[in-house]
Amino acid sequence: MLLNKAEKLLMNNPLRAAVQRYYEARRLRDMGGVMNAGHALEIGCGRGVGAEIILELFGADRVDAFDLDEDMVRRAEARLERFGDRVRLWTGDATAIQAEDETYDAVFDFGIIHHIPDWRSALREVYRVLKPGGRFYADEMFERFLSHPVARALLNHPREDRFDHARFAKALEDSGLHVEASYDEGHFGFFVAMKTPDGVRRPAE
Ligand SMILES: C[S@@+](CC[C@H](N)C(=O)[O-])C[C@H]1O[C@@H](n2cnc3c(N)ncnc32)[C@H](O)[C@@H]1O
Repeated sequence: MLLNKAEKLLMNNPLRAAVQRYYEARRLRDMGGVMNAGHALEIGCGRGVGAEIILELFGADRVDAFDLDEDMVRRAEARLERFGDRVRLWTGDATAIQAEDETYDAVFDFGIIHHIPDWRSALREVYRVLKPGGRFYADEMFERFLSHPVARALLNHPREDRFDHARFAKALEDSGLHVEASYDEGHFGFFVAMKTPDGVRRPAE
């Protein structure tokens, strides 16, 4: 689901970039460690701050990144031009990722999955494109935030079948992604999950 005007303003500004860089990304790095080279994917890259962080803070060699919104992809292209062929961008949908199976050492989600009506299919796609032993780093907004009257009045999100920390963690495990670390703030939360090294899907508990 595309952002409305209010959320675009909230996302495309230096304060949002600072929160992403100095709070969200650092917490995810502390939970899951850095990549030390390797090939990363960012789903829902917005204007490209996340890809910058994945290269600079997580130490990826290369980042592929896409967003449903062509306008966001154009902004990311301008921002990330200086990285040359270390970054590849396209317009696309996280429920049908345009990549071969087992392509990536890590996949990053900076707050996009709560925008997707069928969010479980995005998790299945993350599982598919990760290499065995690869990690999924996610920060996500929970139903408690999305259903707040102010959020409902200002922002546009799917309303059915949303998740809290426990539900998102269970869906990760159901997709075959083993949750190694997580943090629940109540309104939002952080997850680091690994595709089991043998690539075997774990049964749901
Ligand atoms: C809340 S913004 C976050 C943007 C960026 N990751 C950040 O942290 O600043 C959510 C982004 O997800 C994108 N998006 C929504 N649904 C998507 C989908 N199905 N596939 C890919 N991107 C999607 C939106 O266009 C938007 O750029």
